Amino acid sequence: MSKERSAEYRQHVEEATVFVSRSVGFVPRAAVVLGSGLGSVAEAIENPVVIPYGEIPHWPLSTAPGHKGRLVAGYLKGVPVVAMQGRLHYYEGYSMREITFPVRVFGGWGTEVFFATNASGGVHYGLLPGDLVLVVDHINLMGANPLFGPNEDDWGPRFPDMTLAYDKKLMALAEEVALRESVNLKRGVYIAFAGPSFETSAEIRMARVLGADLVGMSTVPEIIVARHMGMRILAVSCVANYAAGMTESPLTHQEVLDEMGRAADRLTRLVVGIVASLGEEGR
Ligand code: HPA
Repeated sequence: MSKERSAEYRQHVEEATVFVSRSVGFVPRAAVVLGSGLGSVAEAIENPVVIPYGEIPHWPLSTAPGHKGRLVAGYLKGVPVVAMQGRLHYYEGYSMREITFPVRVFGGWGTEVFFATNASGGVHYGLLPGDLVLVVDHINLMGANPLFGPNEDDWGPRFPDMTLAYDKKLMALAEEVALRESVNLKRGVYIAFAGPSFETSAEIRMARVLGADLVGMSTVPEIIVARHMGMRILAVSCVANYAAGMTESPLTHQEVLDEMGRAADRLTRLVVGIVASLGEEGR
């Protein structure tokens, strides 16, 4: 990306940030990205201000099935929050910069916590469809990075650390809330492929050897940008299926959405509980 394109991108981010912050009127404590079929978390948000992506200047529109395409800002048990109902994926044909545009906006808006959710495939038999998993680390196999190109030094450093990307205190908080809510929360490493084809059986065997527990097509670019902007990061994945080659049947997106539908209640309780307890968190 040239310097000119980079300056234009920055200006677009700033215009979108001004638009959402004026429309919403408060600074969210956390931005929550709702993955495939997980949009129901947004229904728990009180006094919602709903902004369709199409109304926000320069905001890319999401095309994936199961993703609504709107921002919902409001409160979860008194904690100001904004939820992205519908995320952007690299496989939709957007650039890495485009899919992480919302994260830049959240960072510029002053949002402290970036909380990603997603649907994933479980890479080994210790993970079952329906399991909720705290993402403790990731492997980027997407073949691209959203920080390619000129660095905006006031957004973040050229070479951001990724060893401490996932916030330890937030992970502990998530596990506390899971216990309190009687929700089983495992831990795992997420590996991201570009998609949109599901992985081959050989790719899943490779992922297992590489140390991955979960496989998916999202989240990692968002985490990199959130880390670049110095946000505190938390990610929870819901296992939708056994990954490729682990059962006799082929993978379908419908299977993913069906499993997410069954997990939505538990995940909503967990997400609401975590965001609500940010209000009590002494840092
Ligand atoms: N692979 C990639 N992405 C996914 C999967 C999978 O098995 N399940 C849900 N998202």
